[in-house]
Amino acid sequence: MLNTTQPKEVFLADYQAPDYLVDQAALTFELASDMTRVRSVLSMRKNPQGQLNDCVLDGEQLKLISIKIDGRELQGNEYQCTDSALLISSPPDKFELEIETEIFPEKNTALEGLYHSGRLLCTQCEAEGFRRITYYPDRPDVMAVFTVSIVADKVLWPIMLSNGNLDGQGQFDDGRHWVRWHDPHPKPSYLFALVAGDLYCQQDSFVTASGRQVQLEIFVDPENSHKCDHALSSLKQAMKWDEEKYGREYDLDVFMIVAVNDFNMGAMENKGLNIFNSACVLASPETATDNDYYMIQSVVGHEYFHNWSGNRVTCRDWFQLSLKEGFTVLRDQQFSADMNSAAVKRIDDVNQLRNLQFAEDAGPMAHPIRPASFIEIGNFYTVTIYEKGAEVVGMIKTILGEQGFRKGTDLYFERHDGQAVTTDDFIKAMEDANDIDFSQFKRWYTQAGTPELTVTTHYDSSANRYHLRIEQSCPATPGQKEKQPLYIPVAMGLLNKQGDAMAMQLEGEENAYPDETRVLIVSEQQQEFTFINVATEPVLSLLRNFSAPVNLSMARTNSELAFLMANDNDSFNRWDASQRLVINVLMQLVESVRAATVLTVPDEIIKQFSLVLAKAEEAPDLVTKMLTLPSENYLAAQAKPADVDAIHSARNHLKRSLAQALKQQFTTLYDKLNSTGNYRFNADDMAKRSLKNCCLDYLLTTQDPMQVQRCLKQMKQADNMTDTLAGLSILVEYEGPETEHAVRAFYEQWQHDRQVVDKWLAVQAKSSLPNTLVRVKGLMKHPAFSITNPNNVRALLGQFCRNNPVNFHALDGSGYQFLVEQILQLDKLNPQIAARLLGALNSWRQYDEQRQQMIKQALQKIAEQPELSSDVYEVVTKYLAV
Ligand code: BES
Ligand code: ZN
Repeated sequence: MLNTTQPKEVFLADYQAPDYLVDQAALTFELASDMTRVRSVLSMRKNPQGQLNDCVLDGEQLKLISIKIDGRELQGNEYQCTDSALLISSPPDKFELEIETEIFPEKNTALEGLYHSGRLLCTQCEAEGFRRITYYPDRPDVMAVFTVSIVADKVLWPIMLSNGNLDGQGQFDDGRHWVRWHDPHPKPSYLFALVAGDLYCQQDSFVTASGRQVQLEIFVDPENSHKCDHALSSLKQAMKWDEEKYGREYDLDVFMIVAVNDFNMGAMENKGLNIFNSACVLASPETATDNDYYMIQSVVGHEYFHNWSGNRVTCRDWFQLSLKEGFTVLRDQQFSADMNSAAVKRIDDVNQLRNLQFAEDAGPMAHPIRPASFIEIGNFYTVTIYEKGAEVVGMIKTILGEQGFRKGTDLYFERHDGQAVTTDDFIKAMEDANDIDFSQFKRWYTQAGTPELTVTTHYDSSANRYHLRIEQSCPATPGQKEKQPLYIPVAMGLLNKQGDAMAMQLEGEENAYPDETRVLIVSEQQQEFTFINVATEPVLSLLRNFSAPVNLSMARTNSELAFLMANDNDSFNRWDASQRLVINVLMQLVESVRAATVLTVPDEIIKQFSLVLAKAEEAPDLVTKMLTLPSENYLAAQAKPADVDAIHSARNHLKRSLAQALKQQFTTLYDKLNSTGNYRFNADDMAKRSLKNCCLDYLLTTQDPMQVQRCLKQMKQADNMTDTLAGLSILVEYEGPETEHAVRAFYEQWQHDRQVVDKWLAVQAKSSLPNTLVRVKGLMKHPAFSITNPNNVRALLGQFCRNNPVNFHALDGSGYQFLVEQILQLDKLNPQIAARLLGALNSWRQYDEQRQQMIKQALQKIAEQPELSSDVYEVVTKYLAV
């Protein structure tokens, strides 16, 4: 089929209600390995809110076999078919549309629509994949009740699944069998799913608060039958949590999860039939790390929570994506916080936000959480929509308080159950339930860029007054020069010199505030807060728990930061102070590297790290976070221009100096922690393992052969992947026969397990050693690697281009050239994965002139290619436009 359509921009302002609605959709799939026949019978009617009399259905890469209206086959002149749509002129106001199409899952490498993953057949329809299955009004505001029949060979596809409850099944004489599924809840086409294959099923059950018995089923490749327990227990935790925290119950007889090996994303919330990337669901102690366990719990929760925030109440159009994703990310964050350590979860989330979302918001693709336009919706599943979206909903919660927020979500779910709505509807429910005006707050939905708060303070000892002045600004972003003041909740506290909380009484207030933390609202461009009755000069703790997604600009001395590190009663701010102190030191070191002068590490930081280590056993999880230096990518975003080599040297130098100075403490702690007993996944054990591996990482920077032996020993003795992989990732930073041997042995041991093999690829791709690109190119030819498998691509190419700055940004341009080759190859196979990989160049304007020149040429080379996908086209043109 010829692609004649040019990538075209769509605008939120052009939204129009659908012209025709679908009440019922009855689909029949006849599966065969090369071709699948789809018969679709739709009960359609004209929408009173619609505009046109013609009925336009979306459809891509379909072979149309027949089309009937109310049983009568249409002639060629009664409809028009293009490569993206089917138009029926002026059908009756109410009619039954029957369409037969053929689709070719074997040829589908884009992994949208119906495709093969090994011998499994599965679907991915969000955002606009359903149109690759049949002609349909493929937009989320068209909601229908689906009945799905599947017919296939019984031996090849013994398991056949779709959404909803099982409604019938039987056998044919020819060796085929059939099933019928019925989903009583009207849903948009993007939530449709179908899976067929030979799968193992692990079962369990859950009784909801109102007594509904729900069957839980996880389907996996038979060889993974021992890796389902963690996902199942996470699912039950999530179901219970949503009942308790949000009053949301599950609403079908069965909840199914299927693991597939080829998947563009992490997981998908199809109604009653979640489909997961196998990496986000399978776990056993020997093959999955603590991080995997932690991540699986949150992804299972996330997709489950969509059943209400996304499915029962869905999005009117894709500009509203953050309505379901931002809110659901907030929900999964709360869930993880409740199941594990809330303090650590907050630090992880803020790290992710600052490392990735702040970079996106400062780059060429910056967009508000509700964008005004896009070319390819696939490019808008971004950290901004997700993570900043979650922060914005989180600010609403901070402003309203726990109870007010719950009143708001209750009203939202009740008012909009069964509807396709907008972010404005969400805000309206919050306003109505709490009698508050959020009109200024709504600017967070339309304004891009990370706001900056510039803070100055003054203590007036003669009047016992403390003045806090906060000024807000927001940098210009593409297409949005002027910014308006936002409504920002700033949580804060005051500490006295002993580190105790001080009373906070603002001028005009009768009494001091009752709690140690209070939330100030900054809504004007400049605001001054005057605290009275302040007997001694306080130390300010600002933006506690990171109460708003902003950058803080505030002059802080190293000793002030050290004081906060030790004394702030907000654990997030203790960590944040440690990071700011480290960044201060690192930026000095970067300057020294650039000036080729002597590198001196201040005693202050060694002393602080030593104090942190001394208290390690009290809070091992937080201590690990404090000991972990900011990433090279984050540091690059702070320095102008970003000198990747100087940053790498400075960071290594600091790490080595700390390791040398505190070797005894690191060693003692390592030895103490190196016996956690049998592997169990829980917050305590996880904290100990991560602290232990953090110590090991420091110890190896001393280049001492004894430490290499320590690392090898850990790898040999470990009964779990957390410790094994930690050892290997540390080792790959050291050149030598031990490393080569360990890398080879790891593969030999784990070659049969694709999840572990992906870790093996990723670890090698991240090594900062100079021959890494050569190694990566070699690994692309390894039998373990397939360019059509997204997990392989992310593990090898993604890690190299995103998380290996010294090698990827090598001055000879080899990294950039490599990326261009891979993008061009991938774009023909899987445009979404190609466009995502290109995201590695998001911050290209922060590098020096020479690198920018090379990157620009690389981008131009991509832009010049004929027949680029709309995915890559949109990213590359936006990158070149700044
Ligand atoms: N709805 C998405 C999955 C999706 C995204 C499908 C884009 C198609 C296109 C799902 O709920 C999701 O957000 N998944 C995340 C993981 C989640 C834990 C944040 C993902 O896949 O990365
Ligand atoms: Zn989601």
